[in-house]
Amino acid sequence: MLKKVFKVSSSYNSMRIPLDVVGDIAILKFARWHPWILKKFYARRFLKNNRHIKVILEKTSGFSGELRVQETKWVAGEKRKDTIHKENDCSFYLNVDETYFSPRLSQERKVVAEEIFASKLRSPSVLVMFGGVAPQAIVLAKLFKKNKLSIEIISSELNKKACEFAEKNVEMNKVQDYVQVVCGDSRKFCVNSASRKKDKFDFILMLRPNLEDTFLDAALKVAKKGTLIYYHGFGEEEKVRNEIERDLKKFGKKYKITEFRKAGDIGVKKFRWNVKIKID
Ligand SMILES: C[S@@+](CC[C@H](N)C(=O)[O-])C[C@H]1O[C@@H](n2cnc3c(N)ncnc32)[C@H](O)[C@@H]1O
Repeated sequence: MLKKVFKVSSSYNSMRIPLDVVGDIAILKFARWHPWILKKFYARRFLKNNRHIKVILEKTSGFSGELRVQETKWVAGEKRKDTIHKENDCSFYLNVDETYFSPRLSQERKVVAEEIFASKLRSPSVLVMFGGVAPQAIVLAKLFKKNKLSIEIISSELNKKACEFAEKNVEMNKVQDYVQVVCGDSRKFCVNSASRKKDKFDFILMLRPNLEDTFLDAALKVAKKGTLIYYHGFGEEEKVRNEIERDLKKFGKKYKITEFRKAGDIGVKKFRWNVKIKID
């Protein structure tokens, strides 16, 4: 197993390079002062020591903008940015520059899928807002399929490229009967579904981009009594509690926070929180 940090033994042997591995691509976050020649040296050594890695990229920006995409620069190995990432018995095809994807959320996806499975609802309906390349939808669908149970999942995503990958991933994982990818604004999806008096959802997964908008007002339009919302909030706990309270109270909804837990870090002393909100 690759460690999250690549320990380099050279004259700079005290240095640790943070990295993410997506499929057979390693994305390294070099320090700004690292000269190109040193990056090349690290990258080639890395490829030599980790035969299953075929491409080394340098992370040149964080995830940013509405679509939460990052920028990377090729350093060594095959010249490509697309790959197939495997986790939780699922495979996801994606281009690391064209869409958001985090291998670090793999355990989180498993936990959420198992919790929904454990709810024992018959054929639950699930809306995954901000679905990306559909990793959460597919992990969930596969769990239900494996147990010969039905589930209806909608994965809604704004980024057209991510939607293309999501469609392909649904097919590749053979869960077409379980997951429908809806390309477009998740807010509009909720508003339109509500106006067409479509069924409301048992679960709403809000794997939000780290932006101001909580989107809770939109989610409430397709929530009913008993709906469980999984809300991703960012930053300090108090800030996340306040934004949830502000937006749910504004719409006069009674609710209960049934769980509030860290779901990974997003920076120094900054966290992603997974908050479970039960609508009363
Ligand atoms: C933090 S990423 C999560 C992606 C995915 N759920 C995952 O875990 O891999 C947030 C996603 O929300 C999408 N997004 C941003 N604004 C959106 C909107 N208004 N409607 C739908 N998707 C949106 C971005 O394109 C991005 O893919």
